[in-house]
Amino acid sequence: MPQIQTPYYLIDQTRLLENLQKVARLRVISGAKVLLALKCFATWSVFNLMRPYLDGTTSSSLYEVRLGRERFGGETHAYSVAYADDEIAEVVLYADKIIFNSVSQLIRFEGATSEIACGLRLNPRISSSAFDLADPARPFSRLGEWHVARIEAVIDQISGFMIHYNCENADYALFDQMLSQIETEFGGLLEQVDWVSLGGGIHFTGADYPLEMLAARLRAFSDRFGVQVYLEPGEALVTGAATLEVTVLDLLHNGKDLAIVDSSIEAHMLDLLIYRLDARTEPNDGPYRYMICGKSCLAGDIFGECAFPEALKVGDRISIQDAAGYTMVKKNWFNGVKMPSIVIKGCDGSLQLVREFGYQDYESSLS
Ligand SMILES: Cc1ncc(COP(=O)(O)O)c(C=O)c1O
Repeated sequence: MPQIQTPYYLIDQTRLLENLQKVARLRVISGAKVLLALKCFATWSVFNLMRPYLDGTTSSSLYEVRLGRERFGGETHAYSVAYADDEIAEVVLYADKIIFNSVSQLIRFEGATSEIACGLRLNPRISSSAFDLADPARPFSRLGEWHVARIEAVIDQISGFMIHYNCENADYALFDQMLSQIETEFGGLLEQVDWVSLGGGIHFTGADYPLEMLAARLRAFSDRFGVQVYLEPGEALVTGAATLEVTVLDLLHNGKDLAIVDSSIEAHMLDLLIYRLDARTEPNDGPYRYMICGKSCLAGDIFGECAFPEALKVGDRISIQDAAGYTMVKKNWFNGVKMPSIVIKGCDGSLQLVREFGYQDYESSLS
Protein backbone atom coordinates (compact mmCIF):
# COMPACT_ATOMS: atom_id res chain seq x y z
CA MET A 1 0.00 0.00 0.00
CA PRO A 2 1.48 3.44 -0.88
CA GLN A 3 2.23 5.65 2.09
CA ILE A 4 -0.24 8.44 2.75
CA GLN A 5 1.24 11.76 1.69
CA THR A 6 2.29 14.06 4.53
CA PRO A 7 1.50 16.36 6.19
CA TYR A 8 -1.41 14.76 8.01
CA TYR A 9 -2.96 14.65 11.46
CA LEU A 10 -3.18 11.04 12.59
CA ILE A 11 -5.89 10.27 15.13
CA ASP A 12 -5.29 7.01 16.97
CA GLN A 13 -8.61 5.40 17.96
CA THR A 14 -6.96 3.08 20.48
CA ARG A 15 -5.39 5.99 22.38
CA LEU A 16 -8.63 7.96 22.19
CA LEU A 17 -10.58 5.02 23.61
CA GLU A 18 -8.19 4.75 26.57
CA ASN A 19 -9.16 8.30 27.55
CA LEU A 20 -12.84 7.73 26.86
CA GLN A 21 -12.96 4.63 29.04
CA LYS A 22 -11.75 6.74 31.96
CA VAL A 23 -14.53 9.23 31.23
CA ALA A 24 -17.10 6.43 31.23
CA ARG A 25 -15.87 5.32 34.65
CA LEU A 26 -15.90 8.85 36.02
CA ARG A 27 -19.48 9.37 34.85
CA VAL A 28 -20.69 6.22 36.57
CA ILE A 29 -18.99 6.73 39.92
CA SER A 30 -19.48 10.50 40.18
CA GLY A 31 -22.95 10.93 38.66
CA ALA A 32 -21.54 13.87 36.67
CA LYS A 33 -22.48 14.41 33.04
CA VAL A 34 -19.56 14.96 30.67
CA LEU A 35 -19.71 17.17 27.57
CA LEU A 36 -17.00 17.47 24.92
CA ALA A 37 -15.71 21.07 24.64
CA LEU A 38 -15.75 21.61 20.88
CA LYS A 39 -13.41 24.59 21.15
CA CYS A 40 -10.66 22.06 21.89
CA PHE A 41 -11.51 19.29 19.48
CA ALA A 42 -14.13 19.26 16.75
CA THR A 43 -12.91 16.60 14.32
CA TRP A 44 -16.33 15.10 13.71
CA SER A 45 -15.06 12.00 11.88
CA VAL A 46 -14.43 10.40 15.26
CA PHE A 47 -17.66 11.55 16.93
CA ASN A 48 -19.24 8.12 16.30
CA LEU A 49 -16.48 6.58 18.39
CA MET A 50 -16.75 9.22 21.13
CA ARG A 51 -20.54 9.45 21.41
CA PRO A 52 -21.21 6.39 23.62
CA TYR A 53 -18.79 7.67 26.26
CA LEU A 54 -20.10 11.20 26.60
CA ASP A 55 -23.38 13.00 27.28
CA GLY A 56 -23.05 15.59 24.53
CA THR A 57 -21.13 18.75 23.67
CA THR A 58 -20.59 22.31 24.77
CA SER A 59 -19.70 25.20 22.54
CA SER A 60 -18.36 28.72 22.33
CA SER A 61 -20.16 30.05 19.25
CA LEU A 62 -23.16 29.61 16.97
CA TYR A 63 -21.21 27.41 14.57
CA GLU A 64 -19.92 25.17 17.33
CA VAL A 65 -23.35 24.67 18.88
CA ARG A 66 -24.70 23.79 15.44
CA LEU A 67 -21.89 21.28 14.88
CA GLY A 68 -22.59 19.78 18.29
CA ARG A 69 -26.29 19.37 17.56
CA GLU A 70 -25.90 18.12 13.99
CA ARG A 71 -22.78 15.97 14.22
CA PHE A 72 -22.68 14.78 17.84
CA GLY A 73 -26.18 14.97 19.32
CA GLY A 74 -26.99 14.23 22.96
CA GLU A 75 -27.17 17.14 25.37
CA THR A 76 -26.05 20.33 23.64
CA HIS A 77 -24.92 23.34 25.68
CA ALA A 78 -24.44 26.76 24.15
CA TYR A 79 -22.11 29.36 25.59
CA SER A 80 -20.55 32.43 24.06
CA VAL A 81 -18.66 35.39 25.48
CA ALA A 82 -21.27 37.52 23.70
CA TYR A 83 -24.15 36.69 21.35
CA ALA A 84 -25.18 38.99 18.52
CA ASP A 85 -28.84 39.85 17.91
CA ASP A 86 -28.87 37.92 14.64
CA GLU A 87 -27.49 34.73 16.23
CA ILE A 88 -29.70 34.13 19.23
CA ALA A 89 -32.76 32.56 17.54
CA GLU A 90 -30.60 29.99 15.78
CA VAL A 91 -28.58 29.22 18.93
CA VAL A 92 -31.81 28.53 20.84
CA LEU A 93 -32.87 26.17 18.04
CA TYR A 94 -29.79 23.95 18.44
CA ALA A 95 -29.20 24.16 22.20
CA ASP A 96 -30.69 22.38 25.22
CA LYS A 97 -29.23 24.97 27.57
CA ILE A 98 -27.87 28.43 26.88
CA ILE A 99 -25.27 29.88 29.21
CA PHE A 100 -24.77 33.63 29.18
CA ASN A 101 -21.48 35.26 30.02
CA SER A 102 -23.04 38.31 31.66
CA VAL A 103 -26.19 39.45 33.41
CA SER A 104 -26.63 42.07 30.70
CA GLN A 105 -26.76 39.43 27.91
CA LEU A 106 -29.14 37.28 29.98
CA ILE A 107 -31.53 40.20 30.32
CA ARG A 108 -31.04 41.42 26.76
CA PHE A 109 -32.12 38.10 25.28
CA GLU A 110 -34.83 37.09 27.78
CA GLY A 111 -37.51 37.45 25.11
CA ALA A 112 -35.78 34.89 22.88
CA THR A 113 -34.99 32.35 25.60
CA SER A 114 -38.32 31.82 27.38
CA GLU A 115 -38.54 28.21 26.13
CA ILE A 116 -34.99 27.11 26.99
CA ALA A 117 -33.02 26.53 30.21
CA CYS A 118 -30.67 29.44 30.86
CA GLY A 119 -27.46 29.56 32.85
CA LEU A 120 -24.88 32.16 33.78
CA ARG A 121 -21.10 31.99 33.81
CA LEU A 122 -19.82 32.49 37.33
CA ASN A 123 -16.23 33.70 37.59
CA PRO A 124 -14.82 32.69 40.98
CA ARG A 125 -11.74 34.90 40.45
CA ILE A 126 -9.42 31.97 41.07
CA SER A 127 -7.90 29.57 38.56
CA SER A 128 -5.06 27.13 38.05
CA SER A 129 -3.83 28.72 34.84
CA ALA A 130 -0.09 29.03 34.36
CA PHE A 131 -0.61 31.38 31.41
CA ASP A 132 -1.88 34.92 31.66
CA LEU A 133 -3.30 34.56 28.14
CA ALA A 134 -5.55 31.68 29.17
CA ASP A 135 -6.33 32.76 32.72
CA PRO A 136 -10.08 33.35 33.20
CA ALA A 137 -9.27 34.95 36.57
CA ARG A 138 -6.81 37.49 35.13
CA PRO A 139 -7.25 41.13 36.19
CA PHE A 140 -10.23 42.81 34.51
CA SER A 141 -11.44 39.44 33.20
CA ARG A 142 -14.50 39.63 30.96
CA LEU A 143 -15.31 35.95 31.53
CA GLY A 144 -18.36 35.75 33.76
CA GLU A 145 -19.96 37.45 36.76
CA TRP A 146 -18.88 37.41 40.41
CA HIS A 147 -20.91 40.04 42.29
CA VAL A 148 -23.27 37.94 44.40
CA ALA A 149 -25.92 40.67 44.73
CA ARG A 150 -25.93 41.28 40.97
CA ILE A 151 -26.43 37.54 40.34
CA GLU A 152 -29.08 37.23 43.11
CA ALA A 153 -31.13 39.81 41.23
CA VAL A 154 -31.54 37.45 38.24
CA ILE A 155 -31.45 34.09 40.02
CA ASP A 156 -35.09 33.37 39.06
CA GLN A 157 -34.12 33.59 35.37
CA ILE A 158 -31.47 30.88 35.49
CA SER A 159 -31.39 27.20 36.41
CA GLY A 160 -27.62 26.75 36.57
CA PHE A 161 -24.07 28.06 36.54
CA MET A 162 -21.00 27.35 34.47
CA ILE A 163 -17.70 27.90 36.31
CA HIS A 164 -14.52 27.35 34.28
CA TYR A 165 -11.47 27.85 36.46
CA ASN A 166 -9.40 24.65 36.14
CA CYS A 167 -6.76 25.09 33.46
CA GLU A 168 -4.33 22.25 32.68
CA ASN A 169 -4.98 21.14 36.26
CA ALA A 170 -3.46 17.72 36.94
CA ASP A 171 -3.33 18.35 40.70
CA TYR A 172 -6.33 16.86 42.53
CA ALA A 173 -5.47 18.63 45.81
CA LEU A 174 -5.58 21.98 44.03
CA PHE A 175 -8.91 21.07 42.41
CA ASP A 176 -10.32 20.16 45.83
CA GLN A 177 -9.00 23.31 47.47
CA MET A 178 -10.35 25.66 44.79
CA LEU A 179 -13.75 23.95 44.83
CA SER A 180 -13.90 24.42 48.60
CA GLN A 181 -13.21 28.14 48.12
CA ILE A 182 -16.05 28.33 45.61
CA GLU A 183 -18.39 26.49 47.97
CA THR A 184 -17.59 28.95 50.74
CA GLU A 185 -17.94 32.11 48.67
CA PHE A 186 -20.78 31.17 46.34
CA GLY A 187 -22.61 28.35 48.19
CA GLY A 188 -25.65 30.57 48.76
CA LEU A 189 -26.07 30.92 44.99
CA LEU A 190 -25.27 27.30 44.14
CA GLU A 191 -28.01 25.95 46.39
CA GLN A 192 -30.60 27.93 44.45
CA VAL A 193 -29.98 26.25 41.07
CA ASP A 194 -30.47 22.79 39.52
CA TRP A 195 -27.17 22.26 37.73
CA VAL A 196 -23.56 23.42 37.89
CA SER A 197 -20.96 22.91 35.19
CA LEU A 198 -17.43 22.95 36.56
CA GLY A 199 -16.05 23.63 33.08
CA GLY A 200 -13.00 21.94 31.59
CA GLY A 201 -9.33 21.82 32.43
CA ILE A 202 -9.24 18.89 34.88
CA HIS A 203 -6.62 16.47 33.55
CA PHE A 204 -8.31 13.39 34.95
CA THR A 205 -7.21 11.04 32.17
CA GLY A 206 -3.55 11.32 33.24
CA ALA A 207 -1.87 8.05 34.28
CA ASP A 208 -1.62 8.87 38.00
CA TYR A 209 -4.74 10.97 38.43
CA PRO A 210 -6.85 9.85 41.45
CA LEU A 211 -10.08 9.36 39.51
CA GLU A 212 -11.97 7.84 42.47
CA MET A 213 -11.19 10.83 44.68
CA LEU A 214 -12.35 13.23 42.01
CA ALA A 215 -15.54 11.23 41.55
CA ALA A 216 -16.29 11.21 45.28
CA ARG A 217 -15.64 14.97 45.51
CA LEU A 218 -17.98 15.67 42.60
CA ARG A 219 -20.68 13.50 44.15
CA ALA A 220 -20.32 15.27 47.51
CA PHE A 221 -20.61 18.65 45.77
CA SER A 222 -23.69 17.48 43.89
CA ASP A 223 -25.33 16.17 47.08
CA ARG A 224 -24.51 19.23 49.13
CA PHE A 225 -26.11 21.70 46.73
CA GLY A 226 -28.71 19.39 45.16
CA VAL A 227 -27.34 19.97 41.65
CA GLN A 228 -26.56 17.93 38.56
CA VAL A 229 -22.83 18.36 37.96
CA TYR A 230 -21.42 18.74 34.46
CA LEU A 231 -17.82 18.67 33.30
CA GLU A 232 -16.71 20.13 29.96
CA PRO A 233 -13.34 18.57 29.19
CA GLY A 234 -11.52 19.13 25.95
CA GLU A 235 -7.83 18.42 26.33
CA ALA A 236 -8.27 15.54 28.81
CA LEU A 237 -10.36 13.62 26.27
CA VAL A 238 -7.83 13.80 23.45
CA THR A 239 -4.43 13.98 25.18
CA GLY A 240 -2.02 11.65 23.41
CA ALA A 241 -4.60 10.66 20.80
CA ALA A 242 -3.15 12.32 17.69
CA THR A 243 0.14 13.15 16.01
CA LEU A 244 1.14 15.44 13.17
CA GLU A 245 2.99 13.38 10.56
CA VAL A 246 5.55 15.31 8.54
CA THR A 247 8.42 14.65 6.09
CA VAL A 248 11.91 16.15 6.10
CA LEU A 249 12.35 18.37 3.01
CA ASP A 250 15.79 19.82 3.64
CA LEU A 251 18.69 19.65 6.09
CA LEU A 252 20.85 22.65 6.98
CA HIS A 253 23.60 23.33 9.46
CA ASN A 254 23.79 26.86 10.80
CA GLY A 255 25.53 26.23 14.11
CA LYS A 256 22.86 23.62 14.85
CA ASP A 257 21.50 20.81 12.73
CA LEU A 258 18.21 21.97 11.24
CA ALA A 259 15.55 19.80 9.61
CA ILE A 260 12.95 21.61 7.53
CA VAL A 261 9.67 19.71 7.28
CA ASP A 262 6.60 19.97 5.02
CA SER A 263 4.52 21.69 7.70
CA SER A 264 4.53 24.86 9.79
CA ILE A 265 4.04 25.38 13.51
CA GLU A 266 2.37 28.71 12.74
CA ALA A 267 -0.17 27.06 10.43
CA HIS A 268 -0.57 23.56 11.89
CA MET A 269 0.31 23.68 15.61
CA LEU A 270 -0.38 27.30 16.40
CA ASP A 271 -1.27 26.67 20.03
CA LEU A 272 2.33 25.69 20.82
CA LEU A 273 3.64 28.86 19.23
CA ILE A 274 1.19 31.07 21.11
CA TYR A 275 2.17 29.56 24.45
CA ARG A 276 5.87 29.29 23.52
CA LEU A 277 5.91 25.54 24.08
CA ASP A 278 8.12 23.06 22.24
CA ALA A 279 6.66 20.30 20.11
CA ARG A 280 7.60 16.78 21.18
CA THR A 281 8.66 13.68 19.33
CA GLU A 282 8.81 10.18 20.83
CA PRO A 283 11.01 8.57 22.05
CA ASN A 284 13.07 11.79 21.68
CA ASP A 285 16.24 9.84 22.39
CA GLY A 286 19.57 9.29 20.65
CA PRO A 287 22.79 11.08 19.70
CA TYR A 288 21.43 13.11 16.76
CA ARG A 289 19.78 16.38 17.74
CA TYR A 290 17.88 18.53 15.28
CA MET A 291 15.91 21.70 15.42
CA ILE A 292 12.67 20.81 13.61
CA CYS A 293 11.67 23.80 11.49
CA GLY A 294 8.54 24.67 9.53
CA LYS A 295 8.50 25.72 5.88
CA SER A 296 6.70 29.04 6.26
CA CYS A 297 8.58 32.32 5.90
CA LEU A 298 8.25 33.12 9.61
CA ALA A 299 11.78 33.23 11.08
CA GLY A 300 10.57 31.62 14.29
CA ASP A 301 8.66 28.81 12.59
CA ILE A 302 10.36 26.22 14.79
CA PHE A 303 8.63 23.16 16.26
CA GLY A 304 11.40 22.47 18.77
CA GLU A 305 14.59 20.50 19.27
CA CYS A 306 14.39 16.73 19.24
CA ALA A 307 16.81 13.82 19.49
CA PHE A 308 16.91 10.89 17.05
CA PRO A 309 18.73 7.52 17.09
CA GLU A 310 20.12 8.05 13.57
CA ALA A 311 21.03 11.01 11.39
CA LEU A 312 17.98 12.35 9.53
CA LYS A 313 17.80 12.19 5.72
CA VAL A 314 15.63 14.11 3.29
CA GLY A 315 12.43 12.06 2.92
CA ASP A 316 12.43 10.75 6.52
CA ARG A 317 9.15 10.97 8.36
CA ILE A 318 8.71 12.47 11.82
CA SER A 319 5.72 12.15 14.18
CA ILE A 320 5.06 15.22 16.28
CA GLN A 321 3.12 14.31 19.40
CA ASP A 322 -0.12 15.66 20.85
CA ALA A 323 -1.67 17.19 17.78
CA ALA A 324 -5.33 16.90 18.76
CA GLY A 325 -6.39 19.45 21.41
CA TYR A 326 -6.44 23.12 20.35
CA THR A 327 -4.38 22.11 17.32
CA MET A 328 -6.64 20.83 14.54
CA VAL A 329 -9.25 23.51 15.41
CA LYS A 330 -6.64 26.25 14.92
CA LYS A 331 -5.06 25.17 11.62
CA ASN A 332 -4.89 27.94 9.08
CA TRP A 333 -3.70 28.77 5.57
CA PHE A 334 -0.71 30.98 6.47
CA ASN A 335 1.75 31.10 3.53
CA GLY A 336 -0.59 28.81 1.59
CA VAL A 337 1.21 25.84 3.14
CA LYS A 338 -0.58 22.61 2.29
CA MET A 339 -3.14 21.91 4.98
CA PRO A 340 -2.55 18.55 6.71
CA SER A 341 -4.97 15.80 5.74
CA ILE A 342 -6.90 13.96 8.45
CA VAL A 343 -6.20 10.25 8.86
CA ILE A 344 -7.74 7.87 11.39
CA LYS A 345 -5.87 4.86 12.68
CA GLY A 346 -8.42 2.20 13.60
CA CYS A 347 -8.10 -0.16 16.54
CA ASP A 348 -6.98 -2.85 14.05
CA GLY A 349 -4.10 -0.63 12.89
CA SER A 350 -5.70 0.26 9.54
CA LEU A 351 -5.32 3.82 8.25
CA GLN A 352 -8.27 5.70 6.77
CA LEU A 353 -7.74 8.98 4.97
CA VAL A 354 -10.93 10.90 5.84
CA ARG A 355 -10.11 14.37 4.52
CA GLU A 356 -7.65 15.97 2.13
CA PHE A 357 -7.39 19.69 1.53
CA GLY A 358 -6.34 21.17 -1.78
CA TYR A 359 -5.87 24.41 -3.62
CA GLN A 360 -9.64 24.94 -3.93
CA ASP A 361 -9.97 24.97 -0.13
CA TYR A 362 -7.19 27.53 0.12
CA GLU A 363 -8.71 29.72 -2.59
CA SER A 364 -12.21 29.53 -1.13
CA SER A 365 -11.01 30.53 2.34
CA LEU A 366 -10.74 34.10 1.01
CA SER A 367 -12.21 35.98 -1.90
C1 LIG B 1 -15.77 27.44 29.31
C2 LIG B 1 -14.82 26.36 28.96
N1 LIG B 1 -15.21 25.07 29.05
C3 LIG B 1 -14.36 24.07 28.74
C4 LIG B 1 -13.08 24.30 28.30
C5 LIG B 1 -12.19 23.15 27.95
O1 LIG B 1 -11.02 23.13 28.68
P1 LIG B 1 -9.93 22.01 28.52
O2 LIG B 1 -9.72 21.75 27.07
O3 LIG B 1 -8.72 22.57 29.17
O4 LIG B 1 -10.45 20.80 29.23
C6 LIG B 1 -12.63 25.64 28.21
C7 LIG B 1 -11.26 25.95 27.76
O5 LIG B 1 -10.84 27.05 27.62
C8 LIG B 1 -13.52 26.68 28.54
O6 LIG B 1 -13.14 27.97 28.43
